[in-house]
Amino acid sequence: MYQLTKLENNLESLLLEFNISEKIDIRLSKDESYDLQINNLVKYQKHPKINEILKRFKNELGNESFIEEYSIGNKNFINIEVNLHEFVNSLENIRNFIKVHNPQSIIFDYGGPNIGKPLHVGHLRSLNIGRSLYNINKLAGNKVFSDIHLGDWGMPIAQIIQYGIENKIDFKKITIEELEEIYPSASDLYLKNSQFMESAQSVNKNLNDNNKDLINIWKNIKSVSLKSLKSTLEKLYHDFDLWKGESDVNSLIPPMLESLKENNKISLDDGAYISNLETDPKILITKSDGSYLYLTTDLATVLDRLKNTMFDKTFYVVDKRQKLHFEQLFSSLKYFDFPDKEYAHISFGTLNDSEGNPFKTREGGTKKLIDLFDETYNYIEKINEKLDENSKHILTNTVLTYSDLITNRNTDYKFDLEKFTNVNGKTGIYVQYANVRANKLITDSLLDTSDFSIKISKLDDSDKNLLKSYIKFEFYFQQAIQNNEPHHLADYLYELSRQFNAMYQGVNILENPDSDLKHNKLINTKFFLIYSSLLMECLGILPVKKM
Ligand code: ARG
Repeated sequence: MYQLTKLENNLESLLLEFNISEKIDIRLSKDESYDLQINNLVKYQKHPKINEILKRFKNELGNESFIEEYSIGNKNFINIEVNLHEFVNSLENIRNFIKVHNPQSIIFDYGGPNIGKPLHVGHLRSLNIGRSLYNINKLAGNKVFSDIHLGDWGMPIAQIIQYGIENKIDFKKITIEELEEIYPSASDLYLKNSQFMESAQSVNKNLNDNNKDLINIWKNIKSVSLKSLKSTLEKLYHDFDLWKGESDVNSLIPPMLESLKENNKISLDDGAYISNLETDPKILITKSDGSYLYLTTDLATVLDRLKNTMFDKTFYVVDKRQKLHFEQLFSSLKYFDFPDKEYAHISFGTLNDSEGNPFKTREGGTKKLIDLFDETYNYIEKINEKLDENSKHILTNTVLTYSDLITNRNTDYKFDLEKFTNVNGKTGIYVQYANVRANKLITDSLLDTSDFSIKISKLDDSDKNLLKSYIKFEFYFQQAIQNNEPHHLADYLYELSRQFNAMYQGVNILENPDSDLKHNKLINTKFFLIYSSLLMECLGILPVKKM
């Protein structure tokens, strides 16, 4: 915890005097009657100088103004109660407290739609988790880049083009609806008809050789497709710093393969290049017909990023079914002696329909993301008839985001509109409602906005509980950033909103004859707004003005 960094440092140097090198970790207390705990001394119960260490600890803890009270239990567990007065004074500065000491440069590769296909429900989690991790890291002071990494090259495109040529489709005039119909038909034909397959492969090869006519067709396809993708993304409040795609790195592949060959990192095997790294199965770098694979492009993408984006880390927010691909990518990067950087696959489970089955359209195709958006929008409209369009739009995205992020990213979940829009449940609607209430209260009160003073002696239990809950922000933020898990913050936002409602519901605040009580609750409400809005920002949710 930021405010306790000094204490942590002092305790660490104190332990060094006893030849103990230990990182002091102040955590949230598991004991209800305390706020924080330190477990570091548990493992030193048998240390010959433990009594002296404890004495010195007591001295430090006793001198810390931030600590109201502490106790040391029989196994040397230390429990701490925070001094609310000290704590409240620094509450409004939370944005400064969550900055990392050594900012890093991080690329977030997420979304990853393929051109020619619409965004479908399978893209939702990558988009939500990616945007949230991007926001969290940005708030922490890291330099962040989001890259959508479009699938805009290779066999699928060649199949679409070959299909279009055979069916005399005018690509200059093609609509997104036509394009989306071609894609499944073309890939179907590719599997069933060997002649079509051969023609498509030759289109693919000619595309790679920069055949002008084919490149022009490809440009048309990409522009129509990108326009539609962008319009859906905009509706879902997504934007990217980099709109790069597989096509951008195509020219880097031949020299990359050349150098890998020279360095004896890959060898030819039946026309295909395989990595010389000893693995089971062997890692395929190109196909036997010479065409490139998903892995080939991802390797070249790293080269492109090393050159153009300068990064310390890359996070790939991609479905867990691609685990093997990323394992192969990361081990190849190492084996091929690419510069030493950090790479991680931020994987996630599947979003299913309310019965737990894969989301399908009535015709059996994959459900479009825009259809899920529309269904959610209509549902919200039904339960909030009088609401304006913008608020309904924000609430729709809140539901699509919050219900997704509240689930641990590795577990699958069922999309249940009724459950996810319940005003009394653990939902995006619930947390928005608390935020709207708080805003209205502050507006109606005409409170001086610069005043953050609180009369500690006049706090009731519900005030104290809410104030103490703010202590947890830094801890959950840490967990979210360290484990790349937004759900800690989504959970916490619910907890805070619940505490706020409890604080709010017990009494009439605005017309309360006790002016101290009224003042305290209004200031507490202002803190709540700071925290709730910040958490929404972490999650990629816009606060709604009205409900
Ligand atoms: N377009 C890919 C797919 O549909 C996802 C891309 C993920 N990012 C990456 N760098 N491989 O599966």
